Amino acid sequence: MDVGTIKQQIPESWKAFETLFYNSLSARYELMKEIINYSIKRTGKQVRPLLGLLLAHALTAEEDNTGRGGAVNDSAIRCAVASEMIHTATLLHDDVADEANMRRGIPSVRSLYSPSASVLLGDFWLSRAVATLIETKNFDIFSCFARSIEDLAEGEMLEMQKTADLETSYDDYIRIIRHKTASLFEATAASSAYAVNAPAEMVNAAREYACHLGLSFQMRDDIFDYSPNLNTGKVPGSDLLEGKITLPLLGAFASSSKEETNRIKEKIRSLESESASETARDRNASIITEIYDFITEKGGIEYSNRILSEEAGKAVDALSVIPDSKYRQQLVSLAIYVGSRTI
Ligand code: FPP
Ligand code: MG
Repeated sequence: MDVGTIKQQIPESWKAFETLFYNSLSARYELMKEIINYSIKRTGKQVRPLLGLLLAHALTAEEDNTGRGGAVNDSAIRCAVASEMIHTATLLHDDVADEANMRRGIPSVRSLYSPSASVLLGDFWLSRAVATLIETKNFDIFSCFARSIEDLAEGEMLEMQKTADLETSYDDYIRIIRHKTASLFEATAASSAYAVNAPAEMVNAAREYACHLGLSFQMRDDIFDYSPNLNTGKVPGSDLLEGKITLPLLGAFASSSKEETNRIKEKIRSLESESASETARDRNASIITEIYDFITEKGGIEYSNRILSEEAGKAVDALSVIPDSKYRQQLVSLAIYVGSRTI
């Protein structure tokens, strides 16, 4: 099942999400309007709002005789909208941190306009998210997102710190992706549970499901970087060029000697910047191919898929305390989709 099909299971609340999201795009000045219009040309999969809304339905399904999952109230819609806005803001900032030229298959705002424009548009989205959340008048919801925004920044900074010395361990990797990706999934899920006044046990289940879902989402993303045959909208090899050590490489290192690991790290150190000359780009391409071969030979992709499946399985397990409903089933489908997606 793909996200489109899952969205169709909650047509009314999805429509309410889209309406509020797109109605929040107004800006006063021409340049801001122009860049907003450009940046929404390619929307992403919108997994975070989907996760939030499905949980809101699943946590209220029992109360609703129609079986529709009734209490997807205005606060739950606002949490879904804020999560997508914060996500959009992080990508605009991330493209500056990563000096990324492309986002979702088209030139990034950073490269088409400027790094400053990308940061400022990110700030704009962040402030719109805060304004959207204020209307919920719910401090539990505010604290979910406040903590997540802090985690996002710290996760990104930890990644930067580890990238500089190529010393990312498996535990470091999990800590980084928990902060930089899973934290926003968790905030979206927990805030959605608070929005529908779910009891503490359900808030915790929602948080746990989302944490494992977020980890598997990022693991899949990191496998994409070593999947040149998939048309994911990502430029394969980017993580290596950025000096990021992610799961496929960690998996390959796990079954290599210290010497082999150091040899590969030396190769990564010798990669040159994206803006390098054509000869340097050719040299980069041949080093990247060599590292791909190393990962394939050492089973780094199989290793990553195994850990990813375990995470997706833990996400599904966390749902067991939530009463059965067609929405809970969709949350299972979402975990399966996230673990196997090709885009
Ligand atoms: C994408 O990772 C980046 C993130 C998931 C988080 C980015 C967070 C920040 C820039 C810090 C906080 C910002 C705000 C606005 C609170 P990736 O580079 O691995 O994925 P990619 O291939 O999609 O770029
Ligand atoms: Mg990036």
